[in-house]
Formats: sequence, C-alpha cells, structure tokens
Amino acid sequence: MELKNAAARMQALAREILHHDYRYYILNSPVISDSEYDRLMRELKELEEKFPELKSPESPTQRVGGAVSEKFARVSHPQPVLSLGNAFSPEELVAWYERILKLSAEVRTSSFVMEPKIDGLTVILHYADGVFQLGATRGDGTQGEDITPNLRTVRSLPLRIPADPKHAGALPRRLVVRGEAFFPVAEFEKLNARLAQHGEKTYVNPRNAASGALRQLDSRLTADRPIDLLCYSVMVWDGDGAPQTQWETLAALKGLGFPVPVMAERAESIDGVIRFCKVFESKRDSFPFETDGMVVKLDNLRLAAELGYAGKDPRGAIAYKFASREVSTTLTAIGVNVGRTGVLTPYAVLEPVSIGGVTVSRATLHNFDFIQERDIRLGDRVMLKRAGDVIPYVIGPVADVRTGREKRYEPPAKCPSCQEPVRRAEGEVAYYCINSGCPDQLVRNLEHFASRSAMDIEGLGIKIVEQLAQSGLVKDLADVYDLTLKDLLGLEGFKEKKAQNLLDSIAASKRQTLPRLLTGIGIPGVGEVMAADLAAEFGNLDALKDASRERLQQIEGVGPNIGEAIVDWFSRKPNRRLLDRLRRHGIWPELARKEALPGSNPLAGKIFVITGTLQKYSREQAKSSIELLGGKTTDSVSKKTDYLVVGADPGAKLQKAGSLGVTILDEPAFEKMISSGGKPG
Ligand code: IVH
Repeated sequence: MELKNAAARMQALAREILHHDYRYYILNSPVISDSEYDRLMRELKELEEKFPELKSPESPTQRVGGAVSEKFARVSHPQPVLSLGNAFSPEELVAWYERILKLSAEVRTSSFVMEPKIDGLTVILHYADGVFQLGATRGDGTQGEDITPNLRTVRSLPLRIPADPKHAGALPRRLVVRGEAFFPVAEFEKLNARLAQHGEKTYVNPRNAASGALRQLDSRLTADRPIDLLCYSVMVWDGDGAPQTQWETLAALKGLGFPVPVMAERAESIDGVIRFCKVFESKRDSFPFETDGMVVKLDNLRLAAELGYAGKDPRGAIAYKFASREVSTTLTAIGVNVGRTGVLTPYAVLEPVSIGGVTVSRATLHNFDFIQERDIRLGDRVMLKRAGDVIPYVIGPVADVRTGREKRYEPPAKCPSCQEPVRRAEGEVAYYCINSGCPDQLVRNLEHFASRSAMDIEGLGIKIVEQLAQSGLVKDLADVYDLTLKDLLGLEGFKEKKAQNLLDSIAASKRQTLPRLLTGIGIPGVGEVMAADLAAEFGNLDALKDASRERLQQIEGVGPNIGEAIVDWFSRKPNRRLLDRLRRHGIWPELARKEALPGSNPLAGKIFVITGTLQKYSREQAKSSIELLGGKTTDSVSKKTDYLVVGADPGAKLQKAGSLGVTILDEPAFEKMISSGGKPG
C-alpha cells in the first residue's frame, strides 16, 4: 500500500474504532462483534507498524477505549488503567514470550499466572484504613466515573477489610484494587426475560447488563441486579507486606476478604501455560461469568513493571483469546413468540450453523426496536454470538454482502397466536397481545403456574400443558382443578397410572403456600421474592386484592410501576373470576403475618436435610415450608445438621444422622413442627 492510501485507511479505521468505542462504553449498545472490533484494531496496528511516521498520538491504539460520561463525578486514577495485548493462537503466545525474553533474560526465571479474562466492567476500588472509600469505572484510562454508591450495593464487595477481624496478614493504610464487576451469565437471561415482560429494553450481552446496572443514577436500581465482582490486581499498596508476585497478590487479596478468581493457576513454562489455556477453554461454559480468554501474567511483578509498555499494553501480561464464538449465517425468517404476559418477542430463524460445537438454528432478536436499530433484513447475512450457556443472539447484519434481495421487516399487526390486533404501550419497546384468552399466553401461563418455583405440579410440563390447551380442556388456570380421570384418558399418551399421578399432584398443589400461589398466577413484575414480601405483608389474598396503590408502595421494592401493575391485575374481570374459582377449589392459602409469628423466623439457624419420599409434601414443598420459617435445607448430613426429615425408603443419610446424634423427624413430627409455626416436637 502506498503512503497516501495507508494514511487515508488509517484515518478511516481510527474514526470507525472511536465510533464503536462510544457505542460500547457509553451507550452500552455495540453494533459490531468483539472479533470484528479486534480485526479493525489489528489492521490499524499493523499499518502503524509498517508506517510509523503516520502514527498519530491520538490513535485509538494509544489509548484505552472508553470515555467519561458527564453523568458522574470524575475520579483520577492513581496510575493509568491500561488494557492488554491479545494473542489469538498458541504460536502468538510463544511469540510474546520470545519478545519479552529478548528484552530481559530474567523472564526465564519467572513463573506465569493464568486467570480467566472476565468480561465485565473494570472497577477501581479505593480503601483507606480498611474502609471502602471510593469506586470508579475505567473511563478513558486516566479518569473514570465515580460510581461509589452503586458499588456499595454489590454484595461481594468488602466494605471493610480485613473482612475477617482475626486475619493475621498486613493491612495497608491505603489500598487501591482493580477488579472486574460482572453480571452472572445464569442471571442474564432471567433479567432480559423480566425486562421484556415489562416492555423494557433488553441487554445485548451480560457485559452491557453489568455496565448498565453499575452506571445507574439511582443506586437502588443497581441493588436490584445480581452484580458480582472478582479482583485481581493491586494498584496501590501503602504499607508493609506488599505482594511481590501475582500469585501472592491473589492470596493477599483473598486474605483481606476480596473475591478473587479461584480458577487461577500457576505454570513454570510457556508450554505449561499453553496446556492450561487449552484445558480452560474446554471449561469456559462452566464459569459464572462470560469469558473470551485467559490473561497470562508474569508472576514476578517487579520484572513485569520493568518490561514497561508497548503502546497502551503492558508487556508483562497478555490476553490469550479463545476461539471465537461468533459466526455468520443467513437469516431465513423472523418468528414471534407470545410470552405469558402477552409480550411479543421476535426470534431469528437461521440457516443452521455450528458455534463452539453447538448447532444453532434459532437466536434471540431481543425486541422489534432492535431489528429496526440494527437494520436487520430478511435474507441478511447476520453475525451471531454464543456466550456461556446462554441462548445465542444476533449481533447485527453484515451489510457489505447484501445482494439487494433482502427485505425489510415490519412488526406484526396481529398476534401470531390468536390473530387479535397487537398493541404498543406508550413509552415502551414491547408490543403486546392483550387478549387474555390467547392460546399461546395460556400455555406460557400454565407452564409457569405449574413450575417448581410456583405451584410445583409434578408431571405438568410443557408438552402436557400444550396438550391440555390444544384439546380445549383447559382455558384458564383454574380449569386444571376441574380435570377428571376421564378427561385425561382421552388425551394421547395417557394411561390410567400417568393420569392418576397427574391428578394426585394437581390435588397436592392445592396446599401450596401463598407466596407460591402469588408467584404462579403471573402478576407482571411479581416474581418469587416480591411474592414472598406481598404474602408476608398482607397474609391473604382478600387483603391483597383490594390493596390500594399507595398501600402497596409502602412495601420495599414496590415502586409506582409494580404497584400499578398489581392493582391493574386484580381489577381485571377475568382475573377476579379466576380467583373466585380457585377459592371454590379450596385454594386460598393464608400466611401468618410477619409480626404475628412468635419470633419472626422461628427456625432461623436450623439446618434440615430431607431423605426418602414424603407422603404429603414434594421435596420443593418441604423445603419451602422450612425456608418460610427461616430454616435452611442442605443435601448432606454433617455435624452442622439439626434435623433429618425422614420419609419412606430413606437413604444412607438416616444411618449417618443417627451416628452424629442429629434429631430425626418422621413425617407426622415434621408436619406438626411446620403447622405449629416452627415449634420442635
Ligand atoms: S490484568 C495491566 N486480569 O480485561 C493489567 N485484566 O483487555 C491488565 N480483565 O479491561 C489487566 N479479567 O480489566 C487482568 N484476570 C484479569 C482480567 C482482566 C478481565 C479485563 C481488564 C481489561 C481487559 C483487558
């Protein structure tokens, strides 16, 4: 390439990268995949190496991506918060090693520490005399945003160190720690499902969800999200006993009470590093966070510091990137799901493609605005990503390869399930089907009602729910309690035994607790936690169904939106009718009010183990009865166990409990304890 062309290309690349930095760091809404971004960065770096005279000091390769938003106060970092260079193959790891070995022969004497590269939001945490003072984002690497109140809500962040007062190690007067805050992948889909249910915008990936949660102006919103944290480096240690190696750093942080990546490993040679990186790659789905690689660090921190920087990247560490889980394929159609609250969600129907060993033919498209914003068209080549175990998602179209035959997509005007007109609430992204008799909604509702966290009706899974809805036997939730043996025997695949078992578990579910019933009836915004709070506050459905918005808002966690949704739900005729019918079936549980209980948690601190089959309770029911009274259940008997609840055909646990002197409760004794509100014996 000649100089003139190279200069133009470099400028274009720089502009493009800056634009994507802005979308990623500030808007939390990237439009290209990480690997596409890496490719742009790579091309720019290569051109800069070839034409050093064209390299500008403002080049994005010289800065950490990101910027400081005006929403928050600025915080200056004690030293630049830098990023890392990448190695995309074992060969590139070896090349890195040889490069630094040339700079210093001492590299040969240092071991390496490998840690997962956590895909979250970098945070810088300041402590003075053991007290958490200040927490900031990375920002532009020099200055970050002060998000202290939000970080205080993160459960795993120690507000005081040492967390264990008996800790014997050194405590620095001033300590600044770097870590990564992240959104647990397991919670990510739940969050998106909840947001979608409320007609709110969903997040593209867990990283953006973490960033969104931590960059809220109201820290109560952060507190609602299950943000977690892992710390991996010390930026300032003012006092004796500063760690000299990365391995010591992890141990020292852990000793002080910081969460550290437990899956870190140490290796003596670069071959060991490569071997371990491969093992790690095969386990990447088992981590609670999203990760796209490992960070390989020289263990000797003094040596690492002496090696200095290449651009913005420290030489003493490198990120080894796993094989990309981003691929492109053709979008053949857009399907639409109807959720249990009537929200319509689009999904991509794809030409099957393999990502990381899994064949994918469907992926989420978030919501209809997303399709518009990214200008995704039918027939487009689209980029897909699979992260952790979460459902794959579409990142966006590859616009360069369009043929002109792609078609723009319009959101449906009618519900694909019941053909009733679709409505869009003002200010919301979601489209709704508001027909309460919509068959797809019924199926989702019933599936949720019967699920383990709600009425726990064993044997009533999605297949049978669909059968019941299609046959017309069940038109609303209460119809389940009218089912007869004859009804079920008329369905395909049902013999006497299966039908009777289902009827038995339906009958057993009539004794479920109020929180479970409240979870199950599907009031928008009322999940397990909220249901438990409402039950504790009101004690029964009579009090709750007539509660005013103002009264509801006195409960912690109930804002105007949820308050409104609850009042609205109870005011609808079909819902009132449903409650009346449930009541006639004897399903009208009561919960003693919190203050009416003898102690608020009579079984607090008591640990239960259950073995064998109970007659009147499923495992879930027994567990939730114990938990409602403040007790805990675990799976195995130990010295700490207080009670072993024994049903028919108990396992080896009974013998072990006997030898440890654990109190044994048979079912009648257990039932008595629960029904008396937790009095033993
Ligand atoms: S070490 C100079 N260790 O990944 C030290 N970084 O591209 C450089 N990250 O934003 C950081 N997990 O914040 C390090 N175990 C880990 C990490 C980690 C995630 C982040 C880091 C940076 C990015 C590097």
